[in-house]
Amino acid sequence: MSILRGKHIILGVTAGIAAYKTAFLVRLLVKLGAEVRIIMTPAAKEFITPLTLSTLSNHPVVSNFTNEEDENAVWNNHVELGLWADLFIIAPATANTLSKMVSGNSDNLLIATYLSAKCPVYFAPAMDLDMYNHPTTQSALKTLQSYGNVLIPSAFGELASGLVGMGRMAEPDEIVNTVENHILAGLPLYGKKILITAGPTYEAIDPVRFIGNYASGKMGFELANSAANKGAEVILVSGPTHCKIDSNRVTTHAVFTAKEMYKVVHQHFSSVDAAILSAAVADYRPKKTALSKIKKTSESLLLELEKTEDILASLGAVKAHQFLVGFALETDDEVANAIKKLKSKNLDLIVLNSLKDFGAGFGVPTNKITIIDKDLNQTKHPLKTKAEVADDILEELIKRTHG
Ligand code: CTP
Repeated sequence: MSILRGKHIILGVTAGIAAYKTAFLVRLLVKLGAEVRIIMTPAAKEFITPLTLSTLSNHPVVSNFTNEEDENAVWNNHVELGLWADLFIIAPATANTLSKMVSGNSDNLLIATYLSAKCPVYFAPAMDLDMYNHPTTQSALKTLQSYGNVLIPSAFGELASGLVGMGRMAEPDEIVNTVENHILAGLPLYGKKILITAGPTYEAIDPVRFIGNYASGKMGFELANSAANKGAEVILVSGPTHCKIDSNRVTTHAVFTAKEMYKVVHQHFSSVDAAILSAAVADYRPKKTALSKIKKTSESLLLELEKTEDILASLGAVKAHQFLVGFALETDDEVANAIKKLKSKNLDLIVLNSLKDFGAGFGVPTNKITIIDKDLNQTKHPLKTKAEVADDILEELIKRTHG
């Protein structure tokens, strides 16, 4: 899943031959799940038709302050458009548009919206080599960057004039990559690697039966999703679950048993900055797994169980720089038990949920948590969706690991 999914993007198209490439750019952005609205300068319509771009973006293209062909015309509100946008990409940005962006000459809807927008603005210059190299253009590029706009550099190559040099607009996929990387680099967990465990474990009794629990995996998958959305690279180790995740920053390892989970977690632990263990690991497993299906030949059956590896405690015992977060699911003496686990497993943070709280725990879409840190500070959170709870946990981690 791209970081651009769900983002509101204004694409400003100005009058350069590279405008034909914006059809591909719009297609790419829409494919990645962004909502795209397009503003064209009036002259840009000579290079690509509004019909092409409105069809690809699923929205009417706007170009003037009013829709003059419509007798009931309403004002195209550049202020509202500017506020709607999470991102503004101007591609191609001609020399004329660059100069208007510098001077604030808002004689078209695109520049008026640019001046109203509060979101990050990216611009991809496109022009012939001499125009590009002219001191006026070079000075505009510097000035616009000094205002906080992000330059998507032009490339060297063959130009529409037949000359060869600097000034080609970046290709649509390069524009998308630059925007994605710039957004990622600004996120609080960018450059951090986080290990997360999720789901139940299944401990085999015989080839057809196991000891398991009702954990759905939802909490762990929401944690992985939230961490990835905050820029982290995530290693998700999950027991059997129906949950799915679609993010190119999450690597999922599917396991069945506590032993397998232990092994995969320890393979990765030394390379991560933090670990959040939300899996409901079975505490006991059958001492012996029958090789054939156990037949019901006797009136009663005794299964001898042995303790599984305590994965969280084993990480607490070896942790160096890693920030370690555990969960405690309790029914009685909740806070006291959670503090006991926090200390005995050498954690930095413990997330307590009580099965006495309505809407907390297994199989429900919500959770109600109290977060306790090493200094025993407690933060109680109201009942929230598991996605919101995941955000709360990661915010607490960010607060304690940054600066
Ligand atoms: N945990 C683990 N490995 C286990 C058991 C638990 O990593 N074998 C982790 C869980 O992922 C969770 C935390 O330990 O983060 C607490 O799990 P919980 O079952 O509440 O606690 P236990 O230590 O198993 O203690 P008890 O069952 O006695 O409450």
